[in-house]
Amino acid sequence: MNKIIIKDVHKSFESGLRVLNGISLNIKVGESRIILGQSGCGKSVLLKCLLGIMKIPSGDIRVDDISVKDKSRHNEYLRKFSILFQGNALFDSMTILENVIFSANQINKNKSACRRVAEEKLLAVGLESRVFDLYPAEISGGMQKRAALARAIAIEPEILLFDEPTSGLDPITSRKICHLLKDTIKSLGVTAITITHDLKAAEFLGDSVSVLNNGSVVWTGLARQMSVCKNEFVKNFYDASCA
Ligand SMILES: Nc1ncnc2c1ncn2[C@@H]1O[C@H](COP(=O)(O)OP(=O)(O)OP(=O)(O)O)[C@@H](O)[C@H]1O
Ligand SMILES: [Mg+2]
Repeated sequence: MNKIIIKDVHKSFESGLRVLNGISLNIKVGESRIILGQSGCGKSVLLKCLLGIMKIPSGDIRVDDISVKDKSRHNEYLRKFSILFQGNALFDSMTILENVIFSANQINKNKSACRRVAEEKLLAVGLESRVFDLYPAEISGGMQKRAALARAIAIEPEILLFDEPTSGLDPITSRKICHLLKDTIKSLGVTAITITHDLKAAEFLGDSVSVLNNGSVVWTGLARQMSVCKNEFVKNFYDASCA
């Protein structure tokens, strides 16, 4: 069953730049889909269209059959998503625990219950209680990513969006974060979309991969098929990444 249906979405800007040129994607319930593509090809614009931050002039995006254009159900639509931002987007003036409590509080108004949920999520992503009262600037990039993930899952989303989840991390931390994300997707049973340039992360994290070029999806297939894909753009992308 499809969780997300993106159908023939176009997006241009006033400058005349056509960024999305008839994108169509179907993402199944519980699937982990990777969106790969060169810098500037429209990945973030697609994400913004999916979240309704950018309006789409033509085509449609539906989640559980609710259209992004349906204003009367917009809160219900948005409530399904949670995003792990590239820069983590933790609040600098709040401790790690407060950051996650803030998020939990969006779905539960009971203070002690939110604290309990926040502590549970932080432990689940591998952060020890000694870091709970530290501020984001006082912990490493890998720990910040874990904290941001705890915050993302504290609202119990149905769909997790990961924007460049491994950028800025060293290869070892990057691998640990990929394992954590994969385990999280599996244990929560969520549908996930990951935007990345990191081919290793893509192959590890994704059930399937969609490659964008010039505003269109040029290839969708299983992550492990990328290495033997005949599509010229995908082949070049893969070869350049492995060089
Ligand atoms: N609000 C906007 N107004 C005008 N042009 C925009 C706007 N947002 C994005 N663009 C343009 O759309 C194109 C795609 O941008 P986008 O941010 O989606 O790229 P991307 O694939 O996410 O790249 P990266 O991998 O570097 O993050 C770029 O040429 C960008 O300049
Ligand atoms: Mg981007």
